[in-house]
Amino acid sequence: MDAMQTTSAGQAAEPGLVSAARLTDPGFFAGDPYPVYARLRAEAPVFWCEEGSFWAVSTYEDVRRVGHDTAVFSSRRGTLLTEGRARDAGGPHAPGARHLMRTDPPEHSAMRKLSTRSFTPRMVTSLEGRVRTIARDLIADIEAGTPVDVVGVLSAPFTTFVIAELMGVPRDRWSEFWAWTDSAILQVDAGRQDARLAADVAALMQFFGELIEERRGSPGDDVVSDLVAGEIEGQPLTELDLLTYCKFLLVAGTETTRNLISSGVALLSEHPGQRRLLAGDRDLVPAAVEEMLRFSSPVLAFCRTATVDTEIRGQVIAAGDYVAMLYASANRDEEIWPDPERFDVTRRQARPHVAFGFGPHVCLGASLARLEARVLFEELLSAYPDFSLAGPVERGLSTLVAMVSRLPTVFGAPAP
Ligand code: HEM
Repeated sequence: MDAMQTTSAGQAAEPGLVSAARLTDPGFFAGDPYPVYARLRAEAPVFWCEEGSFWAVSTYEDVRRVGHDTAVFSSRRGTLLTEGRARDAGGPHAPGARHLMRTDPPEHSAMRKLSTRSFTPRMVTSLEGRVRTIARDLIADIEAGTPVDVVGVLSAPFTTFVIAELMGVPRDRWSEFWAWTDSAILQVDAGRQDARLAADVAALMQFFGELIEERRGSPGDDVVSDLVAGEIEGQPLTELDLLTYCKFLLVAGTETTRNLISSGVALLSEHPGQRRLLAGDRDLVPAAVEEMLRFSSPVLAFCRTATVDTEIRGQVIAAGDYVAMLYASANRDEEIWPDPERFDVTRRQARPHVAFGFGPHVCLGASLARLEARVLFEELLSAYPDFSLAGPVERGLSTLVAMVSRLPTVFGAPAP
């Protein structure tokens, strides 16, 4: 495929667009990729990214189609943008381990069932009181008038402690667990490698190993106990499968929600009118969370491999080709949302956004993520209706998540 590629309309993608759409460059996503997404949707909705060796679909309908059709678009050979050129390498996970996201039905359905009990609406609702306590304790430590980094004092500890609660991690190990989680995130999502990160991740895996052993002896009402007790075709998961599942749940459940909350705080700082609306009517918070997910999709993209020759908008996709679903672009598709570049907490979503993906792999933790964000913003706005940025928002380098690495914020007078 050369730089002058054909699109569905049979026209060549303009070379300027080809060089602007740097879909393998973390710096592209850390900047403002949205104008380029708009051009991709309009000019090259099925775009060949030569650098990454993948097709990128950017419209809402195409993202849903690829996510839905697991027979034609498989997850087995990788799901990360960085794997376009390095497939079958097993991804950033232990070789030989089964991984929920990298399976297709029917194996996928069996693996997913092992942990669905922890994510049913009833189980998630039963966590609300504990989630609220975690939020209140962290907000109580914020001092009005003194700039703080919201990532460090709120979004990172909050989302990590909620997953610790879900996994039944004893409270006296939460701060260690937080430090290890940060290292695992940097390793998996930002692709960083160094001795300290490796040591932390080794400590995390050892901790999971002990937790698994403990749950074998005395099962509790938590997701690790469910995994230990679960079987696929009459066989329990191997130790390696269990460790991989635990690490995946931790990273999938923390990094995403952390960035949703950080982006939400940044958006409400940048749109004081919207913040005042929410602070005045907290019944709007659930709709505001959906708008944050749409407007600032925490997950940038996941990928699939075509299992047969197929077509999208007339563009031939050959068996074996890698296809990226650009969720953040699909969520600003002007065919679906009027005025999609406007952040509006009162927006009625005519169609559901795709921030949690679509189809059989749709996010398992979506109701938990929604609960976390709702509770956090309810508590934050009732304690501090006024806050603003105290410096530039710093973005981290990742091709997986829209990463906020620092969010200097100053909170105004607490609510009376
Ligand atoms: C705002 C927060 C979140 C976002 C934006 C998000 C996004 C996503 C997306 C886009 C997928 C689809 C993957 C694919 O199609 O290949 C996914 C899958 C998944 N997510 Fe989330 N996620 C979030 C929070 C969570 C939480 C809190 C948990 C659990 C504690 C979680 C656990 C999972 C799991 C287990 C899968 C794999 C499901 C499967 O392959 O069947 N996520 N998530």
